[in-house]
Amino acid sequence: MEAKHILCFILLVGFVLFQVNADPVEDKQALLDFVHYLPHSRSLNWKESSPVCNNWSGVICSGDGTRVISVRLPGVGFHGPIPPNTLSRLSALQVLSLRSNGISGEFPFEFSNLKNLSFLYLQYNNLSGSLPFDFSVWPNLTIVNLSNNRFNGSIPYSFSNLSHLAVLNLANNSFSGEVPDFNLPNLQQINMSNNNLTGSVPRSLRRFPNSVFSGNNIPFEAFPPHAPPVVTPSATPYPRSRNSRGLGEKALLGIIVAACVLGLVAFVYLIVVCCSRKKGEDEFSGKLQKGGMSPEKVVSRSQDANNRLTFFEGCNYAFDLEDLLRASAEILGKGTFGMAYKAILEDATTVVVKRLKEVSVGKRDFEQQMEVVGSIRHENVVELKAYYYSKDEKLMVYDYFSQGSVASMLHGKRGGERIPLDWDTRMRIAIGAARGIALIHAENGGKFVHGNIKSSNIFLNSRCYGCVSDLGLVTITSSLAPPIARAAGYRAPEVADTRKAAQPSDIYSFGVVLLELLTGKSPIHTTGSDEIIHLVRWVHSVVREEWTAEVFDVELMRYPNIEEEMVEMLQIAMSCVVRMPDQRPKMTEVVKMIENVRQIDTENHQPSESRSESSTPPPLVVERES
Ligand SMILES: *[C@@H]1O[C@H](CO)[C@@H](O)[C@H](O)[C@H]1NC(C)=O
Ligand SMILES: *[C@@H]1O[C@H](CO)[C@@H](O)[C@H](O)[C@H]1NC(C)=O
Ligand SMILES: *[C@@H]1O[C@H](CO)[C@@H](O)[C@H](O)[C@H]1NC(C)=O
Ligand SMILES: *[C@@H]1O[C@H](CO)[C@@H](O)[C@H](O)[C@H]1NC(C)=O
Ligand SMILES: *[C@@H]1O[C@H](CO)[C@@H](O)[C@H](O)[C@H]1NC(C)=O
Ligand SMILES: *[C@@H]1O[C@H](CO)[C@@H](O)[C@H](O)[C@H]1NC(C)=O
Ligand SMILES: *[C@@H]1O[C@H](CO)[C@@H](O)[C@H](O)[C@H]1NC(C)=O
Ligand SMILES: *[C@@H]1O[C@H](CO)[C@@H](O)[C@H](O)[C@H]1NC(C)=O
Ligand SMILES: *[C@@H]1O[C@H](CO)[C@@H](O)[C@H](O)[C@H]1NC(C)=O
Ligand SMILES: *[C@@H]1O[C@H](CO)[C@@H](O)[C@H](O)[C@H]1NC(C)=O
Repeated sequence: MEAKHILCFILLVGFVLFQVNADPVEDKQALLDFVHYLPHSRSLNWKESSPVCNNWSGVICSGDGTRVISVRLPGVGFHGPIPPNTLSRLSALQVLSLRSNGISGEFPFEFSNLKNLSFLYLQYNNLSGSLPFDFSVWPNLTIVNLSNNRFNGSIPYSFSNLSHLAVLNLANNSFSGEVPDFNLPNLQQINMSNNNLTGSVPRSLRRFPNSVFSGNNIPFEAFPPHAPPVVTPSATPYPRSRNSRGLGEKALLGIIVAACVLGLVAFVYLIVVCCSRKKGEDEFSGKLQKGGMSPEKVVSRSQDANNRLTFFEGCNYAFDLEDLLRASAEILGKGTFGMAYKAILEDATTVVVKRLKEVSVGKRDFEQQMEVVGSIRHENVVELKAYYYSKDEKLMVYDYFSQGSVASMLHGKRGGERIPLDWDTRMRIAIGAARGIALIHAENGGKFVHGNIKSSNIFLNSRCYGCVSDLGLVTITSSLAPPIARAAGYRAPEVADTRKAAQPSDIYSFGVVLLELLTGKSPIHTTGSDEIIHLVRWVHSVVREEWTAEVFDVELMRYPNIEEEMVEMLQIAMSCVVRMPDQRPKMTEVVKMIENVRQIDTENHQPSESRSESSTPPPLVVERES
């Protein structure tokens, strides 16, 4: 996506919030002419009497409300050619989507008036004839999707003048002739399959998989077996390590080699897993014993009602501390407040046990806090199942989530292969987590603070919505100084002492999580040159300097028609991480803002989930290997 367009969208969002009474009269008339002359089977709410900006569906105006910059009319049932001298009058247009209609005729040559056109979606229509010879009249084109039409003739070489071009989809047409040798380093995605192209794949496009040229008269055996991948120069300090660009035959070769070593790797992995489990086991029960709490002792003490695991109402687990101590345990990680273990009980129930360190309050305060946390039952909050308090041990028991946290989904496990996270899932994570935090903030007379929001404390519930964990511990533990580096990236600037965390600092941390979802980058990380990058500062600097598309995770480039949602989510994230705590929105407002983002384009996506479900939370994902 092109930088300046993002700026326009941002301005637009601002405009939507502070409605301005201006109407682009000429653009409005052009749109009215367009729908008047082009038959369509679904009605549009375009009334001459109502303002075009902020009211007509599918139309977006510039920040000052003087021009129309985006027209999206997918699946309206248009049939016939685009009427001349209508859309071409929208000279400030940046986004045009007429996909999934029955528009016929040729590519309108008069679109050359639309100098700022950046996103063009015309796929799934009945357009025919050849494309304009000179595409350099649209220097800002970024995404071009002309697939599934009946275009013929040759592919214009002038595409190679479009330096911003990131996606070019010409699949399922009748293009003929040879594939031009584009030199477009920013091109991320291309598909020319199912045409009538001939010749060989040009050098510059050999970095794409064969499938993008399938269904043509292009022989793949002509590929040299070791086509060198084209290295993309990147403007950012970030290596494009997760660029999911295919390497053609090279990848194939890799797969074969990988298959050969797979057995070996699996073997090594098994050994590693076994060892680490053993180690975790030793550590868990071993440490308990060192602390003067041998299982026997505990068992005898657990006769005393005060020294039992305290389960919360409705919890269907049947085990006690004794079972927990006998369980095989492995270390999941070192969290802000102590170690987390995965414990597999004898009946194969798997739970997460947290051993808190540095608990600074007495038993009564601890129990009180646990009762508040344990009473929160919501599909977007990870339920606390049980807790244990003794002089030497403070334990908390949670369900185990087999897919891991959002942090591991986004940033990958060390050495492991990461599954790409699509935009829908990221939106669901954001909406779910926001609802969970809003609910937490309503607890305790609206004063409850989560205090430790970060992507490693967010999981996916059974409906794949975000679900927050690890709440309410800041107030019962000692201050953690010096700050743990990993948590530092989430910490609001005003929070020097973790115990002083407040709701606005939760909002800040949530904003950082949103930025992680948008950029795919960790809140604090080092570059190759050991430079420490602070995500919030980095996004600010990119946004301030040039608004490049580099803000967004390259992995998201492959999903169509999401750029507006991404930009609006970026806007929400930025409002959460503003420096002054009192200028940050309340969590309930954040929830509303995110829900609004999804309602913008309900056609593409399922409507946001119904609220009624929150009263009866469905079971969380628990791994039970029975
Ligand atoms: C389109 O590109 C031109 C030249 O690169 C630039 O001046 C202009 O601002 C761009 N338009 C938009 C909407 O970004
Ligand atoms: C558009 O404006 C009309 C009246 O001008 C109003 O009735 C309608 O609710 C508005 N629609 C939207 C989506 O704002
Ligand atoms: C194209 O976009 C640029 C930058 O947003 C703007 O300055 C220019 O006026 C636009 N051109 C037209 C014809 O609207
Ligand atoms: C596409 O256009 C051709 C004429 O150009 C027409 O014969 C055909 O029925 C159209 N197909 C559809 C699906 O509208
Ligand atoms: C493209 O299709 C049109 C009919 O839609 C035909 O007249 C023209 O000759 C075709 N051009 C090529 C290059 O095949
Ligand atoms: C690219 O643009 C330059 C200058 O605008 C022009 O001279 C050249 O012919 C264009 N190339 C193509 C392939 O259109
Ligand atoms: C091309 O058409 C085929 C069959 O209709 C479809 O399976 C495929 O997804 C289409 N390709 C693209 C890129 O749209
Ligand atoms: C593909 O091109 C060949 C000539 O290059 C032509 O004979 C054939 O009819 C074309 N097929 C289609 C489906 O356009
Ligand atoms: C290109 O489109 C074809 C179908 O038309 C599909 O099979 C192939 O996977 C697509 N390739 C990529 C990389 O999207
Ligand atoms: C282009 O259109 C095809 C067919 O609808 C779709 O599969 C593909 O995802 C689209 N690509 C982009 C980048 O919009």
